[in-house]
Amino acid sequence: MGTYIVLMGVQGAGKGTQAVILKEKLGLLHLSTGDLFRAMKTEDTPLARRVQDLMAKGELIPDEVTNEMVKERIQKPDAASGVIFDGYPRNRDQAQYLDTLLAQYQERITAAIILELDRETAIKRTEGRRYSQDKQRVYNIYFNPPQVEGVDDVDGLPLIQRDDDNREAVERRIDLYFTQTAPLIDYYRERGLLKEIDADQAINAVAEAVIAAIDTTLME
Ligand code: AP5
Ligand code: MG
Repeated sequence: MGTYIVLMGVQGAGKGTQAVILKEKLGLLHLSTGDLFRAMKTEDTPLARRVQDLMAKGELIPDEVTNEMVKERIQKPDAASGVIFDGYPRNRDQAQYLDTLLAQYQERITAAIILELDRETAIKRTEGRRYSQDKQRVYNIYFNPPQVEGVDDVDGLPLIQRDDDNREAVERRIDLYFTQTAPLIDYYRERGLLKEIDADQAINAVAEAVIAAIDTTLME
């Protein structure tokens, strides 16, 4: 059996931040649907243009497109030991699709981790987020600044912001989180898979709590 972790939480809760720490610890694939969609930016196809337009406004990409992309990605060899899902599933239909998809491989979700954070902190974290140009490192001007303001610690190049980290798109993404994604907390609770973590702690403290929750699940 592989290990399949769903990481949930409002925008800025630290799904991406924690997934990077977890993938090293657990040797799993980090599958971020948002990262996969952002990688389509360089493509010039009608689908890529539609995805970019929806993302810039903070809207969700249609389920058929998202589910198909996940299905293709988890079939690759680097997903053989399991996957950390970051930003997926995002609504009930996607959650049901994922359960059915994993069942086809005699697999199932190991744990669903909810990183709990209030709306105000979520807005501040997303607005303060900055990336290195190669997107390998994420900083925060308020909570996790680089050594020198505005430049990456490793390559020294200017930091960049995501197109959808402006106030309007952030508000829309957060609204969609509470209406569409938060109901999945009960979906996973009913299935005995839910682990609740306080995300309003230092990054390392959150990571320790997440790893402890997964360890407990694996021993059950
Ligand atoms: P996606 O890329 O998934 O973005 P998101 O859900 O909006 O979440 P974020 O990436 O904003 O938050 P995060 O929790 O990863 O925070 P992070 O770790 O970076 O989705 C983008 C778009 O793609 C969607 O709007 C949609 O269009 C599309 N999409 C994606 N998946 C889809 C799906 N399944 N279905 C349909 N459409 C989909 O941390 C944030 C900041 O806080 C950073 O600066 C970080 O340094 C800082 N930080 C993190 N942890 C801490 C801490 N403990 N203390 C202090 N600061 C911290
Ligand atoms: Mg993210």
